[in-house]
Amino acid sequence: MRDAEPKAIHLSDYRAPDWLVDKVDLDFSLHPSQTRVTSKLSLRRNPAGAPGAPVVLNGDGLTLVRLAIDGKPVAGPSFEATPDRLTLAHPPADAFVLEVETLVDPTANTQLMGLYRTSSNYCTQCEPEGFRRITYYPDRPDVLSVFTTRVEADEAEAPVLLGNGNLVESGKVDDTSRHYAVWHDPWPKPSYLFALVGGRLAKISDSFLTRSGREVELGIYVEHGKEARAGYAMDALKRSMRWDEEAFGREYDLDVFNIVAVSDFNMGAMENKGLNVFNDKYVLATPETATDADYSGIEGVIAHEYFHNWTGNRITCRDWFQLCLKEGLTVFRDQEFSSDERSRPVKRIADVRALKAAQFTEDQGPLAHPVRPETYREINNFYTATVYEKGAEVVRMLKTLLGEAGFRAGMDLYFERHDGEAATIEDFVASFADATGRDLSQFALWYAQSGTPVLTVSGAWDAEAGTYRLDVAQEVPPTPGQPTKKPMLIPLALGLVGPDGRDQPLALGNVPVENGVVEVSEARQSFLFTGLDARPVPSLNRGFSAPVNLVSDLTEADRVFLAAHDADPFNRFDAIQRIALEMLKTGARTGSLPATEALVTAARAILADTTLDAAFKAQALALPGEGEVARELAKDVDPDAVFAARKALRIAVGTALEGAFATTYAAMAATGPFSPDASSAGRRALRNLSLDFLAVTGAAEGIARAKAQFGAADNMTDRITALAVLTQHEVPEREAALQAFYDRFERDALVIDKWFTLQAQIAAPSTLERIKDLMLHPAFSLGNPNRVRSLVGAFAATNPTQFNRADGAGHDFVTDVVLTLDSKNPQVAARLLASFKTFRQLEPVRRASAERALRKVAETPGLSPDVADIATRALG
Ligand code: PHE
Ligand code: ZN
Repeated sequence: MRDAEPKAIHLSDYRAPDWLVDKVDLDFSLHPSQTRVTSKLSLRRNPAGAPGAPVVLNGDGLTLVRLAIDGKPVAGPSFEATPDRLTLAHPPADAFVLEVETLVDPTANTQLMGLYRTSSNYCTQCEPEGFRRITYYPDRPDVLSVFTTRVEADEAEAPVLLGNGNLVESGKVDDTSRHYAVWHDPWPKPSYLFALVGGRLAKISDSFLTRSGREVELGIYVEHGKEARAGYAMDALKRSMRWDEEAFGREYDLDVFNIVAVSDFNMGAMENKGLNVFNDKYVLATPETATDADYSGIEGVIAHEYFHNWTGNRITCRDWFQLCLKEGLTVFRDQEFSSDERSRPVKRIADVRALKAAQFTEDQGPLAHPVRPETYREINNFYTATVYEKGAEVVRMLKTLLGEAGFRAGMDLYFERHDGEAATIEDFVASFADATGRDLSQFALWYAQSGTPVLTVSGAWDAEAGTYRLDVAQEVPPTPGQPTKKPMLIPLALGLVGPDGRDQPLALGNVPVENGVVEVSEARQSFLFTGLDARPVPSLNRGFSAPVNLVSDLTEADRVFLAAHDADPFNRFDAIQRIALEMLKTGARTGSLPATEALVTAARAILADTTLDAAFKAQALALPGEGEVARELAKDVDPDAVFAARKALRIAVGTALEGAFATTYAAMAATGPFSPDASSAGRRALRNLSLDFLAVTGAAEGIARAKAQFGAADNMTDRITALAVLTQHEVPEREAALQAFYDRFERDALVIDKWFTLQAQIAAPSTLERIKDLMLHPAFSLGNPNRVRSLVGAFAATNPTQFNRADGAGHDFVTDVVLTLDSKNPQVAARLLASFKTFRQLEPVRRASAERALRKVAETPGLSPDVADIATRALG
């Protein structure tokens, strides 16, 4: 483990590397506990570095075996090697070859960073700082090198040997049971994009012909017997490759593209050059085992990693402060891809829901940080919703401001200027400024200022003049390290909806507003819309054009009107959600719900609207989650009161619309064999939403319907939602159904994860004991990140009443797990601890309990830097 008190690293301290690596030849002799790694670095002094600087290579827990310079062994005082560093104080020349041999133990690697074993296969994870756990190296993203990798292993143990780039040679090692393969990657890359895989794996193959005629061999490697489950991923890969050519003019650049699915992985997937490694959750799918959400997750993650080939690999990041340069942009690209493949408005709604749930809560709490942070202690803790999801929103706003053509021109210039380089956010923004001639300096504040801006908007109608004045005030709340903020440039898409439900012309001082977007750039600003013949209802922030909290003077009646008529589908969704949210807030604060007719009316209209697709209806009618209500309440939150209000509102809607839901349930029944496409998935979503509302009171009929669906389902979406309905109710059917589900899928770890999650989400005091029991279940393992996330992670993140039990037992349980896990896998432990990020919004008793639990963590000796950093900042 590294130092317990890591130093803060500051963006302003960035210095160019002192030494460059022109090429690196790696040789791995794989062995379960003693893998020998030989690396030959062609080092060259960087003219831009500090004159006379020593060679300092990063390491992390390494054992040095041998060192040679230009082929001659060296010893003694000419170098210094610690587990964490290799220093040559007096380099022999300004260019030389350094040969380093290290021994690593992949079996003992439970952090899943560096070279480790999963299901007895070998694999690597190097982003962000895992390569230094394999060999000494300048392990920073601005050192780009050409990698050649020879991998050797026992042929029986690892018949498959994979590396980055193209396969150049393979064969048997004479007179032994071992064999080898040599991979060469012609594209210079930083060490974090290095990967190798060795093991017993099955392959599914396909090919792709690029626009310019390159034939690319595609391979997806999975455990034997799971080949049939990789078909959807392969299809998504080919669609992604085509889309990037069409939407961004980007072609693939090697002869091979391989994906390997592994069962033990800290994150979703990794974009290593030509050899993506995936959490198998984002590869494997069959109708029986994967939900519609799983299918769309696979499509999105496959696309995301593939798109990194240009945004991340061909153009990489200068330093880790620039993480959003590749992540925000690549999330934007994968979201656009899925929007084109599916329903754009429905995708937007799902993305905004996820943004608010994860990023807005982050921005509102002690872990808030800018999209491009300026300081960190542990970079692993900055793979966050802010860097990824808000980072994507910033790119989307850029597109909104510059228009389709301007945005494309900026992207083209960015690729042209920086291909082969390690770039910065300044480089990225300058490409758009230079391509379009626009000054983007105020816009760039989106990268630097943390916190979610609040836009307060009110309207004034002047019947005589036919004008409508919109008064807009913006304020960015204080966040850690940033007490005061400057006004931001906010693209506000809007429409003025007339009494007939249609958009009135949008003109400022008689000049039509282009694309329906006005730019808010000052702390207070007024917009005078002219040429109107009736009082409009403003539809604001259409399509969620800016990631802001909007406070408007719209009435409940205005919202019912917008929910029924707004031409912008996102705002129809938003209007009904806002109606529900206001009711839930009042309900949670006062203990009783206000009148619910407005919501019922809006919901009835949406359900009956034949122009809307099923997926949209399902999104619009799904009430805001408990987390969303808590975030909106912002302080003194009692999760039990939120839960009670939400339950009461669900009962009110379910009862009032029982007939409509029953009709919908029947009408949305499957009409043919299962297909994961978006429109079939939308029908299932609406049918399952109806099932849930019909069972909401726990009355026998609704439970029986869920039970019947559970037994008869021919796909996982229908089966798991029926089971979810049953588990939410204290009924005898619950345990029987859980047992039946387990018996059916016990051999399928990814499905058992869903079984863990459903039980972790039960809003009842017995849940904590249930989870403790499940941690002893043979299917559970603290060593596997997916298991930990599905049981303990789901509890902390999605069961607010039980995690925040008033007696503090939920908090103590989670911090105990964090402390146990920390010595095995600090990254997963730190992520789990980050679920405390909203604790300050709780009412005093629960807030004190969370704070006590966090203090106990913070005071524990020997913490990993990962967990120490989260504990300190959360308390900060
Ligand atoms: N770079 C990966 C992605 O977003 C995420 C990741 C980070 C994976 C760190 C592993 C380790 O595509
Ligand atoms: Zn990514």
